[in-house]
Amino acid sequence: MLSSADLPSAGEASVIREDGRSHGVYRDEKGRVHAVSAGCPHMKCVTRWNDAERTWDCPCHGSRFTYEGEVVSGPALDDPPKR
Ligand code: FES
Repeated sequence: MLSSADLPSAGEASVIREDGRSHGVYRDEKGRVHAVSAGCPHMKCVTRWNDAERTWDCPCHGSRFTYEGEVVSGPALDDPPKR
């Protein structure tokens, strides 16, 4: 699993690749780590962090997800798996 050295600082997020998988990892202001798959459930593009909205946004077709792994807007219908 992810080592603490890989994790972002409080209030920051990053996509971390490990064992061929991409994880979207956000550490909130209280230091809690929220990790979901960075692979978009729609067609598997890698999502990007949106710092203004604190969401994971897909650059391919515009799906957006909360940092806790819930769909905000489609076309994706499914939530990305939590890590
Ligand atoms: S692959 Fe992400 S919205 Fe289509």
